[in-house]
Amino acid sequence: MSAENLFEAPLGVGTVSREAIDFVEQHVHRLCQRYADRLQFHGWHHVSFVRAKAVEFAEANGSNMPVVETAAIVHDVNYIVARNSSAAAGRLLRLEILAMAGVAKPVANWIDLIVREAEMAARHREISLEAQALSDADTLFKALPVTPVVLAHRYLTENGVSLRELADKIVGEQQDVHDDGYYFYNPDAAATYSRWAATNLQLWQCIKESLDDPTVERLLDAVS
Ligand SMILES: [Fe+2]
Repeated sequence: MSAENLFEAPLGVGTVSREAIDFVEQHVHRLCQRYADRLQFHGWHHVSFVRAKAVEFAEANGSNMPVVETAAIVHDVNYIVARNSSAAAGRLLRLEILAMAGVAKPVANWIDLIVREAEMAARHREISLEAQALSDADTLFKALPVTPVVLAHRYLTENGVSLRELADKIVGEQQDVHDDGYYFYNPDAAATYSRWAATNLQLWQCIKESLDDPTVERLLDAVS
């Protein structure tokens, strides 16, 4: 099965009720509060932002808004399951939450596929509209000018990675996507936020370069 077929949106598979979305919201919110110490970057503040923006992008591209909204709420539960993990690590917990909310199994599987389809490390130009809406919201969070200033250190702590590892990850995963022209799928988002994305990537490229200077390394050792 090709990557495209694996992530094909099922036709007529259904949607998610408002009651189910409310349940998923309350459940994930409680989990974020309970595990706040291991969700310093991917906590409820991140989930709330991605959810709000994903709904806007879903409305704009005509995709299934309740499904996108639900996918956004459960997209990062893998960080509860395992530190520094991929979306796939959260599959069982994601499906468990959706089952408790009464989401039909085919819809729950679809939501899990959307989450994995939208992941920065794996996404491509032809992902589904639902995944595009989720991806644009999650990518916008990464590209916000405030993220490296007030949140990057939280990512290091949450995931137990060094500044060099984070810089390598950001540039490695995002530069080609940016250069190939599908950093954002929504044309308005691309027009509005591409300058932020380019500046952010340039910052992380400069951070990588600076870390090759032994004097900078000693500086960071001294303050860490
Ligand atoms: Fe996320």
